[in-house]
Amino acid sequence: MRTLFMYRLCLVLIFGTNTGIAEAGLKSGDISAARALFTNNGCASCHDISERSSGPSMRDIAKRYRGKKVNAEMAQRIREGSIGRWGDAEAHPPIGVLEPREARLLADWILNAAP
Ligand code: HEC
Repeated sequence: MRTLFMYRLCLVLIFGTNTGIAEAGLKSGDISAARALFTNNGCASCHDISERSSGPSMRDIAKRYRGKKVNAEMAQRIREGSIGRWGDAEAHPPIGVLEPREARLLADWILNAAP
């Protein structure tokens, strides 16, 4: 019992109280790299961090998938396109200039509510 408590306490100390598995892997260098990818690849022309624009906000995306391990499939949709998941006729275009690992970093960042 005591061991379990200590184990949990360590997890809380390391990862904080309300974070998912994905956030554990996000270092501050990852955060600035993800922000740069977001700015330099035109994401911001359709997405805002907290407000809906022509695409859903990053925070709404994080909210919808909270607790789900969808990082890999989301990275794939970022590169290959997405339509119909957010209930309107607009599509997220394929953004093939991103390397798979860049798309994965963006997905990890978005799923952590785009810090
Ligand atoms: C031309 C406008 C446009 C651009 C540019 C754009 N998006 Fe999107 N994005 C959308 C729209 C519209 C949706 C909703 C698509 C749907 O309903 O499936 C979306 C959906 C998404 C989703 C949610 C997919 C899911 O799994 O539910 C993510 C994540 C995302 N975009 C990330 C990005 C990133 C990162 C970039 C830049 C590399 C980007 N978008 C650039 C319009 C855009």
